[in-house]
Amino acid sequence: MNYISPGIVGPLNLVHIDREKGRFLVDKRAFMDPAVFERERELVFSRSWLYLGHESEIEKPGDFHVRMVGGYSMLFNRDVDGEVNAFHNLCTHRGVMLQADTCGKAKTFSCPYHGWVFRNNGTLLNHGPTGGYSKTFNDDGAYNLKGAARLEQYRGFWFVNMNPRAIPLYDYLAGAREWIDLIVDQFDAGLEVLPGTQQFQVNCNWKSITENQIDSYHGPSLHVSYFMYAAERAGASASPGQMKDRVLTLNGQGVGLGNGHAGVENHVKVGKPWTDWIPAFGEEVRPVIEANAARIVARHGEERGKRMNELTRQMLIFPNTLLNDILSLSVRTSYPTSPASSRSMIWNLAPKGEDARLRRIRLQNHLTFVGPGGFAHPDDYEIFDRRALADAASPQFMHDYSKGMQPDEDGDILTGVGDQADEAQQRAWWAQWDRVVRGEETFEE
Ligand code: FES
Ligand code: FE
Repeated sequence: MNYISPGIVGPLNLVHIDREKGRFLVDKRAFMDPAVFERERELVFSRSWLYLGHESEIEKPGDFHVRMVGGYSMLFNRDVDGEVNAFHNLCTHRGVMLQADTCGKAKTFSCPYHGWVFRNNGTLLNHGPTGGYSKTFNDDGAYNLKGAARLEQYRGFWFVNMNPRAIPLYDYLAGAREWIDLIVDQFDAGLEVLPGTQQFQVNCNWKSITENQIDSYHGPSLHVSYFMYAAERAGASASPGQMKDRVLTLNGQGVGLGNGHAGVENHVKVGKPWTDWIPAFGEEVRPVIEANAARIVARHGEERGKRMNELTRQMLIFPNTLLNDILSLSVRTSYPTSPASSRSMIWNLAPKGEDARLRRIRLQNHLTFVGPGGFAHPDDYEIFDRRALADAASPQFMHDYSKGMQPDEDGDILTGVGDQADEAQQRAWWAQWDRVVRGEETFEE
């Protein structure tokens, strides 16, 4: 299919960069065209490193989680030998989904159809009660569970890649590694994923959700009620006539981290339960939080330590993994279920051994802001909905991402830097998306 529209030259020309005028535009068909959706499955989700889960979720042999990753159901587990695996969750006989439960502990996985049984390291144990296969039937392992082509981890975050020729995860992460380090290095005892997953279906293209997560620009306008609430929690003046002081302000940078990864770091007094105390947390936990912050500064130095402690960071690992180090710590993925619908999953992370009072604050913070019942997401979903409706109803339209782009700017968009309220970080993500769907970037050696 050819993606030609008025003013567009050549196939798949959906991202328009006009350096002379300082404009960065994305054709609305990137958000709704079924052919783009097919191309994303083939070129984005089959070639990028995709988040599978965290090491804390599979600490003991037998622990497993079923995860939808890039359109596939995967079994993420630790087997009897302590090895971590990512198997396709389907029986090698006729392809029936093996494990319907979302998580648990299992030495074996049994297929309900004809009774084949697989060990948790993927080997076929038996063919059910009736036998009838030759002795050498599976000598070559052809009927063992099939794993993702690649499975690698960085700092406890496990990713899969369906392309056997993909570059290593370490290289793929590029500048995102430093940001992951800034998060993980805060917690000496390590991190754990808290029980439960926030899962929800949204009527919009997955890219609307994904790009929004590093869009700092919309915060003070769309989430004004939360920003006022948060300012009050942080102890700002509530006297009438001082509205400016009663709305939280942001101050920071948006950054392209290479390979399409991008993030926003902000000075914002929203309160981080591990390192940045605010009055709403209560005086009784202040010494604990201040001691955490002081320990981090002592270990990592004034500059890096304060950056870890006091700045919030929202980082998008291309294409769709968000790491949120804000008033809570969470990982999130958003996948398309059709061009016009998406499924998001959020996992809440916390420091191992965290003081129970801080853990309670962390959970309250998380539920207050993040997820379907929080202050932020219902606002965002209303916008995603309106945007999808308008895209479907309008003629040819270009979405604009030009904020902060200067005329004749000639730097590398993938590593662009701008004010937090600019759109350099979204441009970095979109520029990479454009290269990937055109087939110019394959993430191969
Ligand atoms: Fe699984 Fe037949 S489909 S045993
Ligand atoms: Fe938002």
